[in-house]
Amino acid sequence: MTQRPKITVQTLLDMKRRGRKIVMLTAYDYPTALIEDRAGVDVILVGDSVGMAVLGYETTIPVTIEEMVHHTRAVARARPRAMLVGDMPFMSYQASVSDAVRNAGRLVKEGGAEAVKLEGGKRMEPVIRAILDAAIPVMGHIGLTPQSLHQLGGYRVQGRDPAAADLLLEEAKLLEACGCFCIVIEGVPWQLGQRITEAVSIPTVGIGAGPHCDGQVIVVNDMLGVNEEFAPRFVKLYAHLGKQMADAFDAYIRDVREGRFPDLDHSYSAE
Ligand code: KIV
Repeated sequence: MTQRPKITVQTLLDMKRRGRKIVMLTAYDYPTALIEDRAGVDVILVGDSVGMAVLGYETTIPVTIEEMVHHTRAVARARPRAMLVGDMPFMSYQASVSDAVRNAGRLVKEGGAEAVKLEGGKRMEPVIRAILDAAIPVMGHIGLTPQSLHQLGGYRVQGRDPAAADLLLEEAKLLEACGCFCIVIEGVPWQLGQRITEAVSIPTVGIGAGPHCDGQVIVVNDMLGVNEEFAPRFVKLYAHLGKQMADAFDAYIRDVREGRFPDLDHSYSAE
């Protein structure tokens, strides 16, 4: 079987030019990355959503660079043909430009990421330029940026009024001018997702940003229905893993307690 070509920054730019949708999905571990890659996902994002999806934090704010390097490295071991993007966690790039370059470097050098993602527009310009100077591709992220939760006053849709929408459009153009190869647009009205996508020549990848972005990203645990109590409007369920896991655990508990497992079919014989 021939391997599909490796997805690079150039591939994603070409996909936008040719009108081919970019499929991005988060992963935080080796087996999930293998399955996603075999399925043909274009970009695997080791998101700081790992904090909520896997580590049990209430927000993404406590996630550390060590945790991101650890999970990025696990995903990199799958050697994906998909592009591997490592997310920069809160306070790994906000305090100083040199911190930002060092931490982006850790995601690439120790984690095996091929690009990094960071949240924010204009105020991140010096940081983005410095990371690019270190030859690390940068994916921008604007709109509902979860690391700014306290400043935004909650997880609210952004850019609803015309002034806020214009500001986000300007931020997107600035990210393009800085040299970002792609922009994640999160939690904005679909009309704004479309406006930004038409205004920039780099690909946009939406999450809660409507159908007109160049691509789509979703948190893997959300689309698999690991925790169906978390059901925001922008999530589509493709499986009900949480329910299947609970049913399997329940069946196992009953089998062991009632002596059905292990039976001789699942035991070794001396003969
Ligand atoms: O952390 C993450 O998974 C993300 C995506 C939702 C874009 O930032």
